[in-house]
Amino acid sequence: MKKLTGTVVIAGSDGDIGRALVRLFAANGVKPVGLSRKARHKTGLSASLRLDLSDPKAVEAAAKKLTARGKTVRCVINAAGYFRKTDDASWDKDVLRHNLGVADNLLKTFTPRLAGVEGARIVTIGSVDCKYPNVNSYSYTVAKAAVKALVGAYRKRHRDGRVNFDLVAPGAIAGRMRAHKAEDKAALLQPEDVARVCWLLCSLGSHAAFEDIVIYPKTLAYSVP
Ligand SMILES: NC(=O)c1ccc[n+]([C@@H]2O[C@H](COP(=O)([O-])OP(=O)(O)OC[C@H]3O[C@@H](n4cnc5c(N)ncnc54)[C@H](OP(=O)(O)O)[C@@H]3O)[C@@H](O)[C@H]2O)c1
Repeated sequence: MKKLTGTVVIAGSDGDIGRALVRLFAANGVKPVGLSRKARHKTGLSASLRLDLSDPKAVEAAAKKLTARGKTVRCVINAAGYFRKTDDASWDKDVLRHNLGVADNLLKTFTPRLAGVEGARIVTIGSVDCKYPNVNSYSYTVAKAAVKALVGAYRKRHRDGRVNFDLVAPGAIAGRMRAHKAEDKAALLQPEDVARVCWLLCSLGSHAAFEDIVIYPKTLAYSVP
């Protein structure tokens, strides 16, 4: 396995998956930089920046800081996102902004800065809902489908291999997004499962490219229409 060098950035480091990522990377000797709105959780991080990731100027300023004076960012993992149930087909702008907007800002801002760095990857956590629509929120389904499409477009555009673009699309995870549901949490994916997939991706060199990675709990049936 290649040794990781350069900074690993975890966007959404306060969330369930974000914190699992920080724990796993730190346990393996790679203390990431966390990007989050409130910087509530700092354990395991080498540094923590507070920002709203849906604000392009704030993301630009953070990227500038992280790559100042020849510093290298090698991996960005986007674990930020937002789900809200919607009753009808009206567009929920917050859901679009905190999923598609955040992914767009991170991809746009970090891609040119990662280009040429050995093993450079931007890993975006999407959702299985991009494949199997979630009828509880058309906005979330559309936002996650658009995120998948956006990552695919970056992958194609940069197929020269200077940066790899991965989409990890998980199904139901035992965490705060589903805390209100009466269900067997042990049977769901755990945030650590997603973190381990991201660790594998970030452990690989630039030569190894993936299509989208869909991961879901075996006990939940996802049926194609
Ligand atoms: N949980 C699931 O069942 C599930 C399933 C499939 C996919 N996913 C996806 O996996 C990703 C991580 O989800 P999770 O389960 O870890 O949820 P989570 O615990 O709610 O974490 C999401 C994190 O994103 C942060 N965030 C959202 N918008 C932001 C913004 N504009 N600027 C900065 N931070 C922002 C939130 O910040 P605050 O802490 O400040 O609110 C939160 O810490 C999301 O993309 C989600 O859609 C989750």
